Amino acid sequence: MVKTSFPKEKIKVLLLEGVHPVAVERFKAEGFSVQLHEKAWDAAALEKAIGDGAGAGAAHILGIRSKTSLTAPVLAGAKRLMTVGCFCIGTNQVALGEASQRGVAVFNSPFSNTRSVAELTLAEIIALHRRMVDQSTAMHTGNWDKSAAGAHEVRGRTLGIVGYGHIGTQVSILAEALGMRVIFFDILSKLSLGNARACRSLDELLKASDAVTLHVPETAATRGLIGRAQIKAMKKGAHLINNARGSVVDIASLAEALKSGHLAGAALDVFPYEPSGRDEVFKSELLGLPNVILTPHVGGSTEEAQESIAHDVCDKLIRFINVGATSGSVNMPVVDLPEQGSASDAADGKPGRRSHRILHLHKNVPGVMSKVNAVMAEQKVNINAQYLQTKGDVGYVVFDIEPTPTKGPLIVEALRKLPETIKVRALW
Ligand code: NAI
Repeated sequence: MVKTSFPKEKIKVLLLEGVHPVAVERFKAEGFSVQLHEKAWDAAALEKAIGDGAGAGAAHILGIRSKTSLTAPVLAGAKRLMTVGCFCIGTNQVALGEASQRGVAVFNSPFSNTRSVAELTLAEIIALHRRMVDQSTAMHTGNWDKSAAGAHEVRGRTLGIVGYGHIGTQVSILAEALGMRVIFFDILSKLSLGNARACRSLDELLKASDAVTLHVPETAATRGLIGRAQIKAMKKGAHLINNARGSVVDIASLAEALKSGHLAGAALDVFPYEPSGRDEVFKSELLGLPNVILTPHVGGSTEEAQESIAHDVCDKLIRFINVGATSGSVNMPVVDLPEQGSASDAADGKPGRRSHRILHLHKNVPGVMSKVNAVMAEQKVNINAQYLQTKGDVGYVVFDIEPTPTKGPLIVEALRKLPETIKVRALW
């Protein structure tokens, strides 16, 4: 019998940039062999580890964060690479188009740091209302200036949330627990949580809020969403918080409103231009203004978020390897697959033999599916289930067939010969 389901102990995982150690445990528990390195690697080091030259030692799974650039030439040489896990939010460090053409599924973790951003936002709402940061800075320079002027409880005040998605709704729940009145504005119709009330327009929200917090994505419509006119529409003495994306707020207009006293404070974690690293000095018109909290894009950066990102990305990578599911992939056609079962399970209620699964990634061109189906027909296998999805010029079809140790390998071999085939795998 030809063995086509790849043995787990031969699956090699290469993790870079010190991804959370929980990832090592998760892959080892699956029986994969794992290497973890602390630093980002350059193209030459990557080629050595995942390129053709690495032979049988080449990694099948690569885990990176934002500093490792996975370019098209590196991917072109990585014949054994099956999948890439970006243990972070963004995926623009990976040449996604090339990855798709090579049948390499790329995964990330867009929502594992939601709670961290929401908690920072809550902390800032209270800190701004108590002028906490200015008082702390004064104390550090020896100033004991005890006064209640300009300090407020947040209980009973109105918080306006712009963008009622993952983060916005978390902030909503936490703010209500503090006794705040919550209103929100979203371009989509959203279910109000607790006693939160939806506003019909951004303007309605701006006029009614004591603090406005932004949780929208960066899109053409949100660029400059909060400019001079919107800041002017806000209540005198209100606060503005931006932990979303730097392009959403016009900084010059914000600085003007803070200097004139129209706004009482602001907290910003994101900026139109952000320094590339520690060596670059941060510059902004907001520097030195009173009651302005500035943080270096750390809203989602907590140890808990790192661990939760590791679990989330590992879940996706392991499901892709073990089951073939591409759910959560940023570049592949999304096919969510159940565990391998057997049609006979459902037919007579008795557990049947586990079906064999054939996974076929192909160029999405006219006629390809008839060729694939012809291969199945030729081998006269009984197909229990078939799943198909396409994305751009790539298609992904999965067959669950009656267990057939002899025909399975023949099918794989025949599919490999089709010119449209990108990758074929079989799971026993
Ligand atoms: P999400 O996609 O779950 O929610 C965004 C919401 O904004 C959606 O409900 C959407 O309908 C709404 N929206 C889109 N355009 C809008 C508009 N013009 N006006 C009003 N609502 C609009 O996103 P999530 O996870 O809540 O993230 C929100 C923002 O936070 C994103 O910009 C993300 O990049 C940023 N973020 C910042 C982090 C940090 O470290 N500071 C960490 C994580 C996310």
